[in-house]
Parts: sequence; C-alpha cells; structure tokens
Amino acid sequence: MKAGLFILMFLGIASQAVADPEADRVAFEKFYKERLPGIEIAAHKDGAYALDAAKREQWLEIEDFPPYEIAVDEGESLFSVAFANGKSYTDCFANGGMGIKQTYPYFDLDRGEVITLELAINNCRDANDEAQLDYMGEEMGNISAYMAFTSRGNKFDIKVPEEAVEAYEQGKRFYYERRGQLDFACSSCHMDIVGGLLRAEILSASIGHATHWPTYRFKWEQIGGIQRRFLQCNEQVGAESLAQQSKAYRNLEYFLTYMNNGMELNGPASRR
Ligand code: HEC
Repeated sequence: MKAGLFILMFLGIASQAVADPEADRVAFEKFYKERLPGIEIAAHKDGAYALDAAKREQWLEIEDFPPYEIAVDEGESLFSVAFANGKSYTDCFANGGMGIKQTYPYFDLDRGEVITLELAINNCRDANDEAQLDYMGEEMGNISAYMAFTSRGNKFDIKVPEEAVEAYEQGKRFYYERRGQLDFACSSCHMDIVGGLLRAEILSASIGHATHWPTYRFKWEQIGGIQRRFLQCNEQVGAESLAQQSKAYRNLEYFLTYMNNGMELNGPASRR
C-alpha cells in the first residue's frame, strides 16, 4: 500500500474516533469538577452566581420579583392566539409545545440542519403564512420565555445522530477556535480563566451555559436568547458578529447544549 493512501485511511479512522460527543461531555464535566472542586456541576445552571456568594445574594433578591415574569405572562397569551388560518403554535410542536425545550436544539434529518427553539417558532409561523418574528425582538423573547418556563425542571436530552456529527463538530470547533483582536476562543474565557474576573465580571462555566434561556438582562432591558449573548461575547474579543440563527451560531448552540446534557433547565432567568 502506498504511504499516502495509508495516511489518508489512518486520518479517516482517527477523525471518526474523534467524533464522540458523549466522551466530549464527560471530559467537559471532569474539567470543571477539577477546576472548581467546591462547586457541584448542577450549581453551574446559575452561571456566575454559582461562583460568588455576595453576587448570588443580590441576584436571589432580584429573583424574588423576577423581571422576566411579565415576559412569561405575555408569552402565554401570544402562544395561545390563533394564526389567521385558524391554527396555532400548538399544532407545530410535540406535546402542544409544553415542556419540550430540553430537546432543543435538535438536528432535523430532513432539512439536514440544526433547529433551535427560536428557529422552530419562526418555521411554524412560515408554515402558517405568518410573518417571521425578529430574533432580537420582544415577541420572540416572550414566546420562548413561556415555552422555557413550561420546561423548568426537565433535563437536557440532546441527541447527536450520525448525520449530525458534522454540525456538532463545527459547533465544537467554533467554541475552541481563537478569533478577534484579542485572539480569544470561547474556551479562553469560560475554561482557561473560569472563575476569574474580567472587568469586574466573574467568568462563568460553559457547563450551565444553556440551561436558563431566554434571559432577562438588565443591560438589554429586555429578555433575549442565548445567541444574543454569543454576539456580545464575540464583540468583546473584537470578532466579527454573526447573524442570529446563522448556521455557525446554531451549530455552536447545539454543541454547547450537548455539553449541558443531563442538567436541569431553569429558564427564563435574570442576569446583569
Ligand atoms: C473575553 C472573554 C470572553 C470570551 C472570549 C467569551 N465570553 Fe462569554 N462571557 C464573558 C463574560 C464576561 C460574560 C458575563 C459573565 C459570565 O456570566 O460569565 C459572559 C457570558 C456568557 C454567557 C452567559 C452566561 C450566563 O450565565 O448567562 C454565555 C452563554 C457565554 N458567555 C458564551 C460564550 C461563548 C459561546 C463564547 C464563544 C463564542 C464566549 N462566551 C466567549 C466573557 C467571554
């Protein structure tokens, strides 16, 4: 056998061996356990508030009168309004859309792409001849907040079928790839210096990054999805901002949420 061919075959086998999402997740969990031994993995669903007692105190006081409560209420009304054709959101989702967020994002085998909850909401509108909602807008935030609320306490159960490995791997690469003027990857901040400070902000663990969306941020003065946060983290390092629900961000969300498999959903939440 020619050496070149042998090497190609070897690489083929090696890259197949690399795509093992469950092994990735176990290693991810182990990393944070060793890095922050005093913190239970489950506690990371509260992000930076799992890492600092004083900030947690302040946050718990805020959560007594949660700023996302109105969003959940309005989301419930919006969700129940019928489309012009008489159908409604309940017709588009399993279990009428209630308590299902733990399965999003998922890889749609027919479409060959990752479908996030927000994209599914807009796909539902498309299918019923309704105009798409703005991904940064209040209506999308409210509807997804209501759907998240009905999924509280459920545990992430993300699947990566064979056909989805490429999308998963792309998301994983995005997470570990350095970019922007700072030349930082997601992992540079949320793994390498997790628990450390960046401009008075404590850096949260990526295990727990997916549990609590959408989130009311005081900085935004509204509720927003996880991809809006991706946008800001990218901007912080001086990297190009990608569009909400672009393929790259959906694949990233897919990878990140898989890393949160087994964790409890506690969205919506509030953050500074
Ligand atoms: C320069 C450092 C830096 C980089 C690089 C960075 N982030 Fe962040 N990120 C932050 C800071 C600071 C916060 C706010 C404090 C916190 O919750 O960690 C944050 C918050 C987040 C949150 C919200 C956490 C919560 O509890 O609500 C998510 C999700 C997140 N980042 C994901 C990412 C992803 C994905 C990437 C890569 C595309 C990334 N970040 C890159 C600094 C960074």
